Amino acid sequence: MESVKTKKIMIVVGARPNFMKAAPIIAAIRDHNDRVAGSPSRTRSNQAQIAFQCVLVHTGQHYDAAMSDQFFADLRIPKPDVHLGVGGGSHAAQTAEIMKRFEEALEREKPDLLIVVGDVNSTLACALVAAKISYDTSGSRPLIAHVEAGLRSFDRGMPEEINRIVTDHLANLLFVTEESGIRNLRQEGVEDHKIHFVGNTMIDSLLAFKDQARRSPILSALGLRAGDGLSESDSGIAPYALLTLHRPSNVDERESFLNILEGLNELASFCPIIFPVHPRTRNKIADFGFEGFFHRQEGAVNSSKRAPNETNGRIWLIDPLGYIDFLCLMEHAAVVVTDSGGIQEETTCLGVPCVTVRENTERPVTIEVGTNVLAGTSASGIRNATRQQLESKRDAAVPKAWDGKSAERILDVICGELLKQEERLLALVSE
Ligand code: UD1
Repeated sequence: MESVKTKKIMIVVGARPNFMKAAPIIAAIRDHNDRVAGSPSRTRSNQAQIAFQCVLVHTGQHYDAAMSDQFFADLRIPKPDVHLGVGGGSHAAQTAEIMKRFEEALEREKPDLLIVVGDVNSTLACALVAAKISYDTSGSRPLIAHVEAGLRSFDRGMPEEINRIVTDHLANLLFVTEESGIRNLRQEGVEDHKIHFVGNTMIDSLLAFKDQARRSPILSALGLRAGDGLSESDSGIAPYALLTLHRPSNVDERESFLNILEGLNELASFCPIIFPVHPRTRNKIADFGFEGFFHRQEGAVNSSKRAPNETNGRIWLIDPLGYIDFLCLMEHAAVVVTDSGGIQEETTCLGVPCVTVRENTERPVTIEVGTNVLAGTSASGIRNATRQQLESKRDAAVPKAWDGKSAERILDVICGELLKQEERLLALVSE
């Protein structure tokens, strides 16, 4: 590949919601390299003057097989090149540990560009290290790209909001998923030339794996398919609700968690609620003695012989699911009740009614054009929002540029920036 420059891109993942955001970028890098390798030098476009070496770093913020390994398999993400093995801890301890271990990896690998995604502690920790590192005496360091920049809940009680704000102000390239992000960044004084509206890489993953998800055996495994003894809709799938809850503000305090469970009582009395439970929430259920609200399925889901109408109005607790199975359950749900950020976006794209158990959202487009409503966290708020969502048929639209091509757009911008950087370096050398 004569005259092709190789640039090193490092991508960081750490926690579950990172994996589906990073996977399409890793795939786009591979496709780009294939195109460069296959194009004769005479006909090479500007973009094809660069090939990439991709270094994938897993911080280990999430470490259970169900929270991490399963997503690598489902999303066909290659094995990480570097695993920092950090694990859990308080915010400070976890962030500090990631920073210490990531600094060593960065010094060793010296990438030209670092990509961080989303708003988890790993995102902030690695961006902060990269913003201060010096590879040499001239102080050179990687460009920092933040994917999913500009989202704001305006609630600094959320650890993710702090992570978003700091990461955005450290980044050189800010890749924005929705137009609110552009407004927020401008209001905070971020220069326009750094902001790139590219759409949503999480939706790239959703569109890439939707067909495969439709073939998932999870509905039958849970007894939700025709012939499972439940009243069925036209699709042959029983009406059911899907629940996820893991925000510290919702599950870490007994009263808050209890309110939410009471808000779900009515729904549980006539509709099976499937609840793949996050480890944090599972621990809290045990701590608070809330087991009585739940029907617990022991062992693997696919060993189930039980239809969910045998749960006697209790929420049906199952282990966390992989990406493909969860996507399948989301697409066919009558309603999704959640406090997750990403699920608000995924349900919008699927046209599935979503009830968000939070007072605010950093993803307003899911409410403006999508299928999401904010329920707040009171029992009555959740009850009313769920009723409203089950009764109303909203005409929802898919937000602008959520079209499966976001990772390609990101790579185009990155190519352009690295080419400019290369030209500046050449100009300096020839001075
Ligand atoms: C993190 C993210 C949150 C994201 C969520 C998705 C931050 C600040 N928060 O929250 O934005 O929505 O991931 O899951 O980064 N645990 C396990 N096994 C695991 C992972 C976690 O047992 O594989 C348990 C540990 O007890 C841990 C607790 O869950 O202490 C919380 O995990 P942590 O990574 O601190 O935060 P999340 O609540 O998962």
